[in-house]
Amino acid sequence: MMQSRERSLGIGKDLALVEAALEGAAASDVELLSWASKHIICAGGKRLRPRVLLLSYRATGGTDIAGVVPLAAAVELLHTASLIHDDINDCSDVRRGQATINARWGDSVALLTGDFVFVKLFGMMAAFESRIIRVFADACSAIVEGETLHMLNRGDAVMSEELYLEIVTRKTASLFSACAEVGGILAGGTEQHIGALRDYGLNLGIAFQIRDDALDMAGKSEDLGKPVGVDLEQGKMSLATLYALERSERAREVLLSTDVRQAAELLRDTGALDYAMQKAGEYSNKGKKALSIFPCSEARAALCDLADFAVARDR
Ligand code: IPE
Ligand code: IPE
Ligand code: MG
Ligand code: MG
Repeated sequence: MMQSRERSLGIGKDLALVEAALEGAAASDVELLSWASKHIICAGGKRLRPRVLLLSYRATGGTDIAGVVPLAAAVELLHTASLIHDDINDCSDVRRGQATINARWGDSVALLTGDFVFVKLFGMMAAFESRIIRVFADACSAIVEGETLHMLNRGDAVMSEELYLEIVTRKTASLFSACAEVGGILAGGTEQHIGALRDYGLNLGIAFQIRDDALDMAGKSEDLGKPVGVDLEQGKMSLATLYALERSERAREVLLSTDVRQAAELLRDTGALDYAMQKAGEYSNKGKKALSIFPCSEARAALCDLADFAVARDR
């Protein structure tokens, strides 16, 4: 559904322009930096953040796609830089179906490549108005704060649901929200429309991360292109694990054993997975509802499809 609607909208063409902008975006005469950045940038990835930006732009009536593409490519680089550093922190060795930079070249190269990709996007953003730069600067701070909070609260079996939601809002939803908001700003939308897009992105992002955390135990690494059990190993809590810990005496022991199969069973048997998915569905619906002030359009429908995908996805 998502793909057929996107096809008729021509978003495939928009994304092809983003791919072209990404190609060589992190080139350097220090070849190792070029190789390592290309390694992850060209490994695929769902390109969800540029999609959200472009669709939000189109839903608000924007038509100058070529003018927006550099920013859509820049947000993909921002996301990619955060993944490069996240994989160092999570000691993760597979990303987008291939070896992570830290696994292939070591942590120091990964650290520098993440910095390099991050700095490259400044140049790509330079031509855009300061309001837009500020939105992304705030999202960048939120990502780092969210990742730090998640790390600081590792192993906290009694973490409140509120704190969990605060963490995912910062580390993941802030960037989705920024992408949607900026799409509206670029298209010259009213403050009401820009605010609705911000709200959409925030709820989409929360739903997306709740699902991501569930897939760490209930998903398949072949589908995800990244290992399962990483959060489990690191003691990173999720909505589902917190729910299970509160209701099952076995939960602590099972989660401490870090056995993914047993953990997945626990989440299914205790209803924790259903609970997390129900919550993800609520956020996804809230996101879709925020878009109701927009006139019907294929772009609006495609944004709603993305909100459905965030909850139903296996990859
Ligand atoms: C992974 O994001 C990081 C999270 C916020 C969970 P994606 O699942 O969008 O990663 P790619 O870009 O498709 O690889
Ligand atoms: C990381 O979340 C989100 C970022 C902001 C980088 P995860 O740690 O859940 O992402 P994955 O599972 O490694 O893709
Ligand atoms: Mg990770
Ligand atoms: Mg994850």
